[in-house]
Amino acid sequence: MTRRKPPRPAGVAIAGTGMAVPDKLVTNDDLAQLVDTDDEWIVQRTGIRTRYLADNGVKTSDLAAKATRQALDNAGLQPEDLDLLICATMTPDVICPATSCRVVRKIGAIPCGAFDINIACTGFVAALGMASNAVESGQYRHVALLGADCLSTIVNWEDRRTCILFGDAASCAILSPCDDENRGSLYQALGSDAERGEALFVPRDESDIPPCVDASTTEKPGWNGMYNTLQMDGRTVYKFAVNILAESVEKAMDACDMTADDIKMVIPHQSNIRMLQSSWKRLGFPEDKISVNIDRFGNTSAASAGICLHECITQGAVAPGDHLIFVAQGGGLSWGANLWRL
Ligand SMILES: CC(C)(COP(=O)(O)OP(=O)(O)OC[C@H]1O[C@@H](n2cnc3c(N)ncnc32)[C@H](O)[C@@H]1OP(=O)(O)O)[C@@H](O)C(=O)NCCC(=O)NCCS
Repeated sequence: MTRRKPPRPAGVAIAGTGMAVPDKLVTNDDLAQLVDTDDEWIVQRTGIRTRYLADNGVKTSDLAAKATRQALDNAGLQPEDLDLLICATMTPDVICPATSCRVVRKIGAIPCGAFDINIACTGFVAALGMASNAVESGQYRHVALLGADCLSTIVNWEDRRTCILFGDAASCAILSPCDDENRGSLYQALGSDAERGEALFVPRDESDIPPCVDASTTEKPGWNGMYNTLQMDGRTVYKFAVNILAESVEKAMDACDMTADDIKMVIPHQSNIRMLQSSWKRLGFPEDKISVNIDRFGNTSAASAGICLHECITQGAVAPGDHLIFVAQGGGLSWGANLWRL
């Protein structure tokens, strides 16, 4: 007898969310003790006022496990209820085993399925798509998706162009099947362009440095003089991000025949407040429809959109039935969007 495919659920619901940051709060004034910068420059150029940084051996998987436990609590589920856990990270604890496997162990969910994805700051949006497709297929019931990064472990703390931007954090959402066919992902898209990959990259050694990066001088954008740390051409990334954010949101709304009036909240990756403001101005979106928390957390890479989601839900800014657009961009260069009915 042939096995029948499991029934597909009518819809997919976000059953619970969670987030975690390390204990150490770092202000712009604190960073001014390390590099030649000041609070005014950082706030004006980025909108960042504080960020949390991991120390004392805190790993990406520690933050990820904490966020997952909170999401499970909020969903009213136990660790053993999870069928799959997907962790988006570019700062895994170690190369192998995957951070997702470590999270499964830390929360007591063995033998839950687990895998990592690495698509930098686009991670949460990419994982959201993978997780919702997994639930929608009927093959997995409860799926945890995470964005978790400790970028503090891969920045050069002498490079003021990059070290002021990032914070460490994790966020988690649990997706579960539901009876309402209108709930879940209505549109999802991912894109990448490695032709511009070296605008934001982490080279291991000199063989990874392409001709477009001038490694003879740290005055040039894209090289800070240290391997295994984040190299960034800030202006190139900035221009790319403003355009791709607006374009991705427009495409999502067009595909679903919606306008800004139909969207309750845009949940963007938090990279720079000026970038976000330029994109929304171009789209004609009112600012109160854009979730922003970069002032408190900095750019938390794969975690940031999930933190916004968690705050929007727990603060009652969004409710079942609302349409949300998740949108993100980052290293790769990569980007992604997901129009979701809560
Ligand atoms: C990084 C970023 C804030 C820099 O802002 P900018 O307006 O482009 O600034 P520039 O790089 O042109 O630098 C302007 C000046 O400020 C200086 N500067 C750079 N970082 C500084 C800092 N932390 N404090 C003070 N001065 C700084 C530069 O050295 C430069 O000085 P100069 O004019 O004497 O050469 C901005 O480019 C950005 O946000 N880019 C996107 C980065 C990003 O989001 N990355 C992650 C994507 S997921």
